[in-house]
Amino acid sequence: MNTGAAGSAKGVNTGVAPVTYGTGERPPRGDYSSARSDYTCEQDWERYTAEEHALYRRLYERQSAQLPGLACDEFIAAVGHLGDPRRIPRFDALSDVLRKKTGWEVVAVPGLIPEEAFFALLAQRRFPVTGWLRRPEEFDYVVEPDVFHDLFGHVPLLFNPMFADYMQAYGEGGLKASRLQSCEYLARLYWYTVEFGLIATPAGLRAYGAGILSSAGELRHSVTSPEPQRLGFDLVRIMRTRYKIDSYQTTYFVIDSFAQLIRTTAPDFAPLYEEVAKASELAADARLETDRRY
Ligand SMILES: [Fe+2]
Repeated sequence: MNTGAAGSAKGVNTGVAPVTYGTGERPPRGDYSSARSDYTCEQDWERYTAEEHALYRRLYERQSAQLPGLACDEFIAAVGHLGDPRRIPRFDALSDVLRKKTGWEVVAVPGLIPEEAFFALLAQRRFPVTGWLRRPEEFDYVVEPDVFHDLFGHVPLLFNPMFADYMQAYGEGGLKASRLQSCEYLARLYWYTVEFGLIATPAGLRAYGAGILSSAGELRHSVTSPEPQRLGFDLVRIMRTRYKIDSYQTTYFVIDSFAQLIRTTAPDFAPLYEEVAKASELAADARLETDRRY
């Protein structure tokens, strides 16, 4: 499991896989004193300043301008549900809309939370969103996921029934993986799907991962750059593959559809974890004969 700061020298908010805080090199950003035992807290919307709303708007506008031709249709169709881009959304109002669509809600958390707490919230169809917004000087680069990454990157696809089910199943699988000490493998699946996943469509490759969709530079890079390798989705291959937290990804995995994602991740992972544990770990940029390349 990734243990702390994530970001990029290239100025990317890469998002962070669920993390056990306190094990990184520095404490997580955020005020944990007001958090409940499940790590949720009040959003305290009134505390956002006019400058923070304006910064959110600039981030939103920069990303939404890039979506056509790079983001998947499901994301583009749903991003408008976030509401008025001139204001950081009120989580309770957003949850009212989301609950009606897929039964999910958005809950505030102070920042990164322990993986078990993260999995438990997902299993309850409650998506934890960091309350704080990056500072203006972090417009291009923020070390930990902030409210913009969590909302803009993750929440639109929670409006998609299939992806919404996948996220809940992931939470349930996470609780099981914790007991099997296999969280690292499951974190890789999260990283290469929920954060950095690509999907093949009739119009070409598109992004559905939140780390890509909330990143100013990696969105275009992931879909169009000749540098990274793009490989067909392969569950065991993904669980064996380490990932980059300090640069653009060197490898992206491509799903055919959300249905494929659900179908291939539905079986019990316990035998898979055993298989992965016996196999060698792969570097983030490893190339295998058996890889299916795009
Ligand atoms: Fe994220």
